[in-house]
Amino acid sequence: METIRADVVVLGAGGAGLRAAIALAEADPALRIALISKVYPMRSHTCAAEGGAAGVIKADDSLEHHFNDTVGGGDWLCDQDAVEYLVREAPKELIQLEHWGCPWSRESNGSVAVRPFGGMIKQRTWFAADKSGFHILHTLFQTSLQFASIRRFDEFYATELLADEGRCAGLTAIEMRSGQIHRFDARAVIIAGGGAGRMFPFTTNGAIKTGDGMALAYRAGVPLKDMEFVQYHPTGLPSTGTLLTEACRGEGGVLLNRNGRRFLQDYGMGPETPLGHPVLKTMELGPRDRVSQAFWHEQRKGNAVPTQWGDAMLLDMRHLGEKKINERLPLVRDMSISYMGVDPVTDPVPVRPVVHYMMGGIHTDIRAATSLPGLYAAGECACVSINGANRLGSNSLTELLVFGRRAALSAMEYVQSGARPGAEAALSAAAVAAQARIRDLMQRGGGTETVAGLRKEMMHTMEQHAGIYRTGDGLAEACGKLADLRRRYARIELHDKTNVYNTDLLQALELGSMLDCAEAVTQSALARKESRGAHQRLDFAERDDRNYLRHSLAFYHPTQAPRVDYSDVVITKSQPGVRDYSGGHK
Ligand code: FUM
Repeated sequence: METIRADVVVLGAGGAGLRAAIALAEADPALRIALISKVYPMRSHTCAAEGGAAGVIKADDSLEHHFNDTVGGGDWLCDQDAVEYLVREAPKELIQLEHWGCPWSRESNGSVAVRPFGGMIKQRTWFAADKSGFHILHTLFQTSLQFASIRRFDEFYATELLADEGRCAGLTAIEMRSGQIHRFDARAVIIAGGGAGRMFPFTTNGAIKTGDGMALAYRAGVPLKDMEFVQYHPTGLPSTGTLLTEACRGEGGVLLNRNGRRFLQDYGMGPETPLGHPVLKTMELGPRDRVSQAFWHEQRKGNAVPTQWGDAMLLDMRHLGEKKINERLPLVRDMSISYMGVDPVTDPVPVRPVVHYMMGGIHTDIRAATSLPGLYAAGECACVSINGANRLGSNSLTELLVFGRRAALSAMEYVQSGARPGAEAALSAAAVAAQARIRDLMQRGGGTETVAGLRKEMMHTMEQHAGIYRTGDGLAEACGKLADLRRRYARIELHDKTNVYNTDLLQALELGSMLDCAEAVTQSALARKESRGAHQRLDFAERDDRNYLRHSLAFYHPTQAPRVDYSDVVITKSQPGVRDYSGGHK
């Protein structure tokens, strides 16, 4: 087995991983950085982000506003010290991207343009048309290429973390091209592996978002925090689940039910404003949890629009005009035509809520450090927690920049404080055992289960019981089902037993990650007997601050359900209040 020696391993080469690698390389050119990714970096899911990244830049805005929008939008489950750090660092990160070449869209006077986004009372979302993620990722990737100390390992899949004497000391990974297992020794590891939306059948998430980074940390004893909070984005294309950015509504698009009514006014999201009103107050710019929940109610009232892919609402952008749509929303137009056969210039586009983002993830502190010394996490796979019970659109691109850098600085401090590498004997034994587990999975015969079969059942269970609205009975059923699927997972057999690009093996490992994450979601959701943000229980319809103004922490067990415990929310200056989106915003 080949051993690669690094000072810091960064796992994941999307926005958070690249930002972390650059920060490490800039801070200490002597650090040896191994950047591992299961895909070529430009294929990372950051690429799919459309609408933009939030950061205060305009004179009428303030850090206070950004803080308040984020904490209120998160239904007060955010750690407020982390939010203060986010909003303070956000403009610096976005300007840094500008200096590295990110082509932010501009105002006519040449200054950076911002657009309105859901749940934000001021315009603060920086954007590059509707391809913001692509441009951010490209900017980070091209910047990373100038550092010789960043050694890339593209198309490597990490299988296990290595630990010695209670501290993280590296990981094992399969090189997909050869099927060989490699051992990466490191004094610190940063996980930046993205979310786990593929647990659900209908999602904006690319096929690679299977919770692998979350599962690695979880199995190594680090709890997963607030996993019950799964975000539905209100406007996915019913045919594919592809995102139609919130920027459609930020630019003035409206949501209509089958009667042509802007139905959000019936759900506490403000009075009706005329079509084409330049700056909508709330209405379509309500937060994602509330807008998605409104769809659910409209559907039950029979107000949805039937399509060949199921019920939908209509996103009407016709009044924006062709010029504006082409300038601000060109990808939206392309995708609506390609995947739905609808041109938004001439017709409303059917849309429906779609699983988009995990607010929960690897439990970290404000330094992006986990409870395992030497292990850090940032981006969607982590829960720091700035999103609380519901993330505001455009805070996640900012989060991955701010906390990608923060994780790097923390890891560097740890390494420079004299963290020792793991002992050879311990790492060697652990790596050989990890290799044997992969070989066993590949060579196992007589299996009775298939990856595709189990994955289908998992997705169905999640959609049926862990969606926009949940019940105790449904969640209990889902927990039982997922426990059964985890048991049956031990009986899968791979049909491809070869080494080169064995996608059968890759998908089996990804399924293992998703099953662990899915169980953390449903167990945490079952334990939280209240409704808050994206976690809505029909049997516990109210928010219950007395008992649940707390983070859930799910602790892994190899054969049993996770233990769910709680930790305190950090409140610095905003006491829990009522979320008001009725149009009272300035
Ligand atoms: O709608 C969007 O463009 C998505 C943005 C986000 O999730 O932050």
